[in-house]
Amino acid sequence: MSDLAIAEREHAQQPERGDVGPPLWLLAELTYRCPLHCAFCYNPVDYTHHRDELSTAQWIGVLREARKLGAAQLGFSGGEPLMRDDLEELVAEAHKLGFYTNLITSGVGLTDARLDVLKANGLDHIQLSFQDSTQELNDFLSSTRTFDLKNRVARSIKAHGFPMVLNCVLHRYNLPHVDKIIDMALAMGAEYLELANTQYYGWAHANRAQLMPTAEQLREAEAVVERYRKEIGNRCKIFFVVPDYFETRPKRCMNGWGSVFLGVAPDGAALPCHSARSLPGLTFPNVKEMPLADIWYASDAFNRFRGFEWMKEPCRSCDEKEKDLGGCRCQAYLLTHDAANADPVCDKSEHHEHVVNVVRDAARRGAALAPDEQPVMFRNDANSRRFAGGSESGAHGGTRAATGTGTTTTATPPKEKTRS
Ligand code: FES
Repeated sequence: MSDLAIAEREHAQQPERGDVGPPLWLLAELTYRCPLHCAFCYNPVDYTHHRDELSTAQWIGVLREARKLGAAQLGFSGGEPLMRDDLEELVAEAHKLGFYTNLITSGVGLTDARLDVLKANGLDHIQLSFQDSTQELNDFLSSTRTFDLKNRVARSIKAHGFPMVLNCVLHRYNLPHVDKIIDMALAMGAEYLELANTQYYGWAHANRAQLMPTAEQLREAEAVVERYRKEIGNRCKIFFVVPDYFETRPKRCMNGWGSVFLGVAPDGAALPCHSARSLPGLTFPNVKEMPLADIWYASDAFNRFRGFEWMKEPCRSCDEKEKDLGGCRCQAYLLTHDAANADPVCDKSEHHEHVVNVVRDAARRGAALAPDEQPVMFRNDANSRRFAGGSESGAHGGTRAATGTGTTTTATPPKEKTRS
């Protein structure tokens, strides 16, 4: 039996309180610091507002409490978790506690020396992100020069015997490269390839007009994925997740609010999903001030959207509510300014037209770059401070030196590579 299967069996044996089961999946966002500046980063746009980080001892406390609660899977994420030099120590503790551990990384800072220690300390799995199969677009989208480094890191991960997921976020600029991205994953020996179409929260929402693909791009990419799946069989498992905006029923986000997912932000705020911080009117309890069990079972934030009582129409009387639980709370808030509304991806929502219009605008604009293409806004401190200061509309306000080295504020993508 695999470590993960053992952990899941243990989880199933954990007691429940009322209707609420224990968390299965702990995401430890160790830091918001990151050497990359991805235009679709899911971190809060105002992350510069949340600079504090838990200490090593505090993180170890979180791991112990979460494991006691029943959490079995643990993702170390960020920002870039390798920015913390106690990552190895945290991995060792997690392994000792019996977690199945996954490092979610850009690869920057993942040297052979660190891989040696992570392996020895019991890390189970590594998820490495790429932004594209071409150096030009990979480096553009992250506003760094990291493509060659990521290739080297992928080889080192495999040389150390780790199972590897290659993760590539898809959007209008790189969807035409899906075949090349799959070839790249196969050449690297990745066991899994996650082709995650952009979901429009955080920085991706700020860049939605630029990143939103056309339906035709998605159809073509899906056909390519299907063809590869038939050709390669089990050599590499390919996940392809369609973006919500192209659906007519919402996803069961996080498998339900406060159902299996427990995120802990760098400063110790406990979150029912990555984007929850964007929701107004909720105070997220901090692991420094409240035991994790109380946070999970008793806090207002984790209970606010559990069950069905909070629902408004059309969800409340909908015969599909048990399937999708009204969809995503963060998307409902972003698009309707009320987190208790139905996710407007659902065509029963009175706000569904909003989603339709965004898709229609993307079709009208087309896949090719327009001469007056709006610049992409990168995730960096300068832009985050603009959001934190409440003047986000000004964050698109001008292109500073487009050097592609992290000092860029906004820029337009390289034309040739996005057309090929
Ligand atoms: Fe927050 Fe869906 S991302 S509930």
